[in-house]
Amino acid sequence: MAEAMIEFQNVTKQYQGGQAAVDGLTMSIDKGAITVFVGPSGCGKTTSLRMINRMVEPTSGIITVGGADVTSVPAAQLRRSMGYVMQSSGLMPHRSVLDNIATVPRLNGVSKAESRKRAQELLDVVGLASSLGKRYPSQLSGGQQQRVGVARALAADPPVLLMDEPFSAVDPVVRDELQKELLRLQHDLAKTIVFVTHDIDEATVLGDKVAVFAVGGKLAQYAAPDEILRAPANEFVASFVGRDRGFRHLAFSPSDGVTIHPVRTITAEQLPQEGSSDDWQLVVDDALRPLGWAGPGRAGTGPAMVPGGSLFRKGDTLRRALDAALSSPSGLGVAVNDDGQVAGVIAATEVLAVIESDRSVRHGGL
Ligand SMILES: Nc1ncnc2c1ncn2[C@@H]1O[C@H](COP(=O)(O)OP(=O)(O)OP(=O)(O)O)[C@@H](O)[C@H]1O
Ligand SMILES: [Mg+2]
Repeated sequence: MAEAMIEFQNVTKQYQGGQAAVDGLTMSIDKGAITVFVGPSGCGKTTSLRMINRMVEPTSGIITVGGADVTSVPAAQLRRSMGYVMQSSGLMPHRSVLDNIATVPRLNGVSKAESRKRAQELLDVVGLASSLGKRYPSQLSGGQQQRVGVARALAADPPVLLMDEPFSAVDPVVRDELQKELLRLQHDLAKTIVFVTHDIDEATVLGDKVAVFAVGGKLAQYAAPDEILRAPANEFVASFVGRDRGFRHLAFSPSDGVTIHPVRTITAEQLPQEGSSDDWQLVVDDALRPLGWAGPGRAGTGPAMVPGGSLFRKGDTLRRALDAALSSPSGLGVAVNDDGQVAGVIAATEVLAVIESDRSVRHGGL
């Protein structure tokens, strides 16, 4: 069993005059793992996160970090001992990027030269060019600002990183990049990360464990992401996870059971001008990379080649296998090798059969 780093023991937070923002929260957060708090707006995610570093004090209950009650440490000291990243990067506008990153080490008494040197290294760690260190936050893109926010949180090398919707203000492409970057970082650093989002996709991509909060600050389910997708604990979690949850969990299933079959290929020069009445044929270029499909069309129906769907590689997930097969006009997903050359095809019917048997194994009650 994983070692606990942070524990909530029956923690409740009631703001003045309001309903409970967090209600009797009991949970244990694993050391060296990413735990994601996810849930709709107002369900108490931020409040729960901020109680960990005492930016918010609980009304009742106990929170421990590394076995020690957080109230045993002065709040300011506790806050500096944890990295904190928020939605808006929260950078100080009148300070350079380097000085922003160096803030907490400076407060902790590290010399100016030393903390700048470290800040410079951290730019590289979060994937930013070192020349950006001299700029001011307003001279950076949103994604770059968020990276600086992450660098700043890492500056004091804290064991715990608290991240409150850090990537929600950037566009989906940048967000994807930042998520990958965080996973890469975490692979090397193995911090205890608590990450808040209201996006279930982000939660399942990033989380070793996911805590789904329901309105009223109640913990609705706390489990590994594949379990939440496959077996939502109740109606609320099921609806929050969304309708295609039955397929999302395939992103965690291997495609080992899917057979790659040989396929007849032709080059573009061999392509008939009109649909032939033959079977589907895969059109490839000189390097054997897939171009599209020549369909078994009726005579006189126009150009014979139709674009193919997404590609499948050996070792991909079952989800990708399904995507490849279903997005292909022939019902055959194109499998390619590492050089992008055609390795064969996978049949939609067979992928669905593997999914079906995968499902019955899961529900077979092992
Ligand atoms: N300082 C405060 N004073 C009074 N009520 C507050 C305060 N902060 C939060 N609340 C209330 O507590 C509840 C939980 O708020 P919280 O910010 O923790 O939710 P959240 O899950 O982070 O929401 P969001 O996804 O919108 O960020 C909400 O009903 C909110 O209105
Ligand atoms: Mg919030």
